[in-house]
Amino acid sequence: MKVAVTTKDLLTLPVEAVTVGVFVDAQGRPAPTESARLVDAATDGAVMRCIEGGDFKPEPGSCAVVYPKEGLKATRIVIVGLGRQEALTEKRFIQAVEAAVHATKAESLVLTSLEWVPVGRNAEWALRTGVRAAFVASRPRVTMKTRGAPEAGLQRLFVKTDRAVRGQKTIAERGRAVGNAMVWAKHVADLAPNVCTPEFLADAAQSIAQEFPDTVACTVLDEKQIDKLGMGGLMAVSRGSAMPPRFIELSYRGADEACAPVVLVGKGITFDAGGISLKPARGMEEMKYDMCGASVVLAVLKAAAEMQLKQNVVALVPTCENLPSGTAVKPADIIMMMNGLSVEVLNTDAEGRLILADALTYAERFKPAVTIDVATLTGACIVALGNQVSGLFCEDEGLTDALAQAADSACDAVWPMPMGGTYADQLKSVAADLANIGSPNNAGASTAASFLASFAPKSPWAHLDVAGTASVSGAKRASTARPVPLLTEFLLDRERAYKTRG
Ligand code: BES
Ligand code: MN
Ligand code: ZN
Repeated sequence: MKVAVTTKDLLTLPVEAVTVGVFVDAQGRPAPTESARLVDAATDGAVMRCIEGGDFKPEPGSCAVVYPKEGLKATRIVIVGLGRQEALTEKRFIQAVEAAVHATKAESLVLTSLEWVPVGRNAEWALRTGVRAAFVASRPRVTMKTRGAPEAGLQRLFVKTDRAVRGQKTIAERGRAVGNAMVWAKHVADLAPNVCTPEFLADAAQSIAQEFPDTVACTVLDEKQIDKLGMGGLMAVSRGSAMPPRFIELSYRGADEACAPVVLVGKGITFDAGGISLKPARGMEEMKYDMCGASVVLAVLKAAAEMQLKQNVVALVPTCENLPSGTAVKPADIIMMMNGLSVEVLNTDAEGRLILADALTYAERFKPAVTIDVATLTGACIVALGNQVSGLFCEDEGLTDALAQAADSACDAVWPMPMGGTYADQLKSVAADLANIGSPNNAGASTAASFLASFAPKSPWAHLDVAGTASVSGAKRASTARPVPLLTEFLLDRERAYKTRG
């Protein structure tokens, strides 16, 4: 999809669809934006007729398409409801853009979304976020359905502005890069688990490196190398599967070698059956999404390369399957981790922490500025926070604030959660340094985070539990690509801070 920012006249712009926003005023009456009034006047009242006819109320998320007879180069007007202007949140903004893109099959469209900047945000935010949302909404889900041709979708996107926004081309390109990364992450995560295997993830990482040969490098460790490094956690979890594990290291060089990198670690369990501590059959298919942390960190690295950020970023992915078999790790097995700690595996379904622990140990070799891991780690986190908010576990105040701020801006919510202390106490084992689970039904998200803390590098470290937010379950089963928005926003915030430092 091509993206352009334009100051040209809406009425004569060569596009198929023009979007116009309509607010609701304090009295509940429709309050058309400037573009809505302009288009309405040119088309002999096509916009207001649609509203006054009663078929369309300008409520948030609502949308109507009208085909005016004349007055407009475009064939249709997409009228977007925005609700009360004071109540226009980041989320409503994104939903409005998505609704507009979904409402039409037009191949080219102009957004007038710079007239709908949420309270507290600026034109730069609206431009970047609008492009990101339009890009994601325009991409149909990739499936293996053999009947019916896929739709072409949106090919050209314009964003209308009255006055040029400083650096508008770069800003729009950044929105596109984030949107593109989200589409990539969704695509990989939505694949069937017999397609998206550890090997496949490694190849996907390699292809990112090939896309950016000057700045991105990929190293993939095989089973032998993983074993040699002493990654006992990753080796133990993979033992139940016929497929060998992989350890992926994808790095982006955007700054001097001396510049400490942001290290991202993503959980890459391509299918989690639970191992010998087998999960119930119902809903087990959703455990193909247990590699969402991996697809997210690889996608973020791809976005960083595409945006040519002046930072160094490393993505680390330990990846394997968690299956039961005669060779699988058993409850009560004791394994040796890469950092020298022994772990008693009391439940083989608490596997994510075992593979992440070794990856966190490995991260130390990069002397990271910050380390952030992303994992669909615990059902307990869904119990605590639901499906809209990811758990943020971090004992560094600066990093917590930076991530919370990026989350707000990116509309990718997190909530700070506790760890360590009494939660860490739950992980005592009579037979080894640590047990891999705490007391059943007792703050499971916090004990999991506390387990990881024993392996985290010396840098400020944050753990994001995205078990509830990485995918939508049920009939609409799909990956959300979260927290790609949060992490790309976090990197962009660092970029700005870096620039002002000079
Ligand atoms: N991948 C699961 C966590 C999960 C559950 C993600 C539901 C998404 C939706 C993880 O490996 C797991 O099985 N965790 C166990 C831990 C328990 C055995 C301590 C859990 O949450 O039940
Ligand atoms: Mn599990
Ligand atoms: Zn898992």
